[in-house]
Amino acid sequence: MSLLEVSNLTKYFGGLAAVRDLSFQVDEGMIMGLIGPNGAGKTTTFNMISGFILPTSGTVRFKGRTLNGMKPHEICAFGLARTFQIVQPFPEITALENVMVGAFVHHHNTVDARHKAEEVLERVGMAHRAGTLARDLPLLELKRLEIARALATEPQMLLLDEVAAGLNAVEVREVLDLVKDLNKDGITFLLVEHVMKVVMSLSHRIVVLDFGEKIAEGTPQEVSRDPRVLKAYLGEEVPVA
Ligand SMILES: Nc1ncnc2c1ncn2[C@@H]1O[C@H](COP(=O)(O)OP(=O)(O)O)[C@@H](O)[C@H]1O
Ligand SMILES: [Mg+2]
Repeated sequence: MSLLEVSNLTKYFGGLAAVRDLSFQVDEGMIMGLIGPNGAGKTTTFNMISGFILPTSGTVRFKGRTLNGMKPHEICAFGLARTFQIVQPFPEITALENVMVGAFVHHHNTVDARHKAEEVLERVGMAHRAGTLARDLPLLELKRLEIARALATEPQMLLLDEVAAGLNAVEVREVLDLVKDLNKDGITFLLVEHVMKVVMSLSHRIVVLDFGEKIAEGTPQEVSRDPRVLKAYLGEEVPVA
């Protein structure tokens, strides 16, 4: 049994199939990349897995349990946490307090939640920013904060939506190094990315979406050579494997 099992997932917005009959599995311990051009259905898939929108049909199973119908906070408490494509911290509270919001999922008193939040901030290299208001943090640190807030919920699996968006090449490297480290600690990842290059070096496997459908799945080397993938990304930069 895989940790995450997506089966025949479909979402219609009116007459538009944003995602159609999508199936893939993510085994425990792996980094799975989900890529595709703009509008391919990545965020919609992500939102269905994390419970933010209901599928038109199909199922999502995590740790053997069907998630359909569960609320986002229930899915999170069950061990599947997410970040947002656009970072969404609470701007007027500190970095530590933002992370405590995540920690309260499993720690119901302030002392324990604070302790957990401090530990997680340290883990993502943000301990020195604990007292800084989120609105004063640069984008790279906001991304770290988002990851920290998700980590504080103690997930087995983390879904990251376009974590590289808006960062320069050096900053992208830093975030990816963090993902790699957290994966070594045992966290399973689903990385949703528009830019193929970002997930190439990191992902064990990649699923490629185009117009809502899976057009390829395999190792980074396999998908980057696939003619359908090259065609979908025509006009965009495709890495040489
Ligand atoms: N809430 C919505 N209502 C109507 N159409 C939507 C909605 N969300 C996404 N779409 C459409 O679904 C398709 C897939 O969008 P999305 O999942 O955001 O793609 P991606 O994240 O791969 O760029 C696009 O054509 C988009 O315009
Ligand atoms: Mg998106």
